[in-house]
Amino acid sequence: MAAEVLIALAKAYGAEDFIPISSAHVSGISYLNIGDAGVEVFEKFSKGKVSVPTTVNPMGFDPDAPRTLPKDGKKILEGQMRILKALERMGANVTLTCTPYYIIDVPRHSHVARAESSAVVYANSILEAYTNRESGISAMASALLGVTPYYGLHKPENRVPQIEFILDYKPSTRAERSALGIFIGKHKKTVVSVSEAPEDKDAFKLMGAASAASGRVAMIRVGVEAEEKVHVGKEEISEVIEELSSGEDPEFYYVGCPHASEKELREFYYKCKENRVISVAPQIYYKNIDLVRKIESKGARVIKGTCIVVSILRNRPFVTDSGKAARYCPKASLGNVLRKIREHTLLYPCISRVALFPFLLGLVCISLPAPSLPDKERVRADA
Ligand code: F3S
Repeated sequence: MAAEVLIALAKAYGAEDFIPISSAHVSGISYLNIGDAGVEVFEKFSKGKVSVPTTVNPMGFDPDAPRTLPKDGKKILEGQMRILKALERMGANVTLTCTPYYIIDVPRHSHVARAESSAVVYANSILEAYTNRESGISAMASALLGVTPYYGLHKPENRVPQIEFILDYKPSTRAERSALGIFIGKHKKTVVSVSEAPEDKDAFKLMGAASAASGRVAMIRVGVEAEEKVHVGKEEISEVIEELSSGEDPEFYYVGCPHASEKELREFYYKCKENRVISVAPQIYYKNIDLVRKIESKGARVIKGTCIVVSILRNRPFVTDSGKAARYCPKASLGNVLRKIREHTLLYPCISRVALFPFLLGLVCISLPAPSLPDKERVRADA
């Protein structure tokens, strides 16, 4: 089956050859999204073994965070369990994160097969790796066979920017950096250039994820000229922020889309308020468990292996600095979460722990405080 998938892909894109990959990243592993049909596909794939290091995207809930669990929990847990077991049988590293670059190293200039659009932009732009925007199925097939069709962004000649964004205004907050990404994505190009580099890799991550979410961006280069040029000023950035403001009273503030780095987690700790929700990779969570506990002692919540966007919390009103989350969640507003925020009442007033909660994968975990109902005070998303 894996070979059929890759041959069909090669034919569709006119690839005459295949190229070895150093790793793969598979998305679409949430039972909430793929249901029983998806479970069957993964179980069919699980007759084989991956031939390169393979990481996987988040699932639809954190078993330790009851508010992320859908009502029909039993069926969903069972379905998710079957998917995770199938991935384990194949030898995949069940990382449950959209930031595989925090988990495994990617050799520079190596070819990889990545589904998850934000990880694609990061790989091509920051890691100097080569990948197309794969689907979950094609990335899985490549993981098993260790190759990918040689076309698109695997070819150096296709990595030339089709458009250059000249920044007349430098984004000064994470929300503005995300808004720039959304603006870039709207131009429907695959390889783009920006005139100035974001301040650090985390800012690049936010911008790249947003650009991929609002369009088909797969690579952002810095300071490389292109024939088509577009100027971006404060007005364009503000328009995007306005567009992505739902006007709903937020119940909480969300950071960690894409999943937070260790540096971001530390930053969140210092700037943390009680009604924050932060999502991270399980590996980052456990590696920094003391910090996680400190953050949670302030009343904020760290969720792992999932995110707001892929969980049932996506339909709640919240403010986020992530353009991707704001784009995909109907009641989200793009705004600055870590600075310039107004004081408001608690989202998590009830610190009533601790009840044992049955954990997926046979573990027993502790359930932590759940969000309260929304406070009605209006909080403006101040970007
Ligand atoms: Fe990652 Fe979820 Fe955002 S998978 S990129 S945190 S939508």
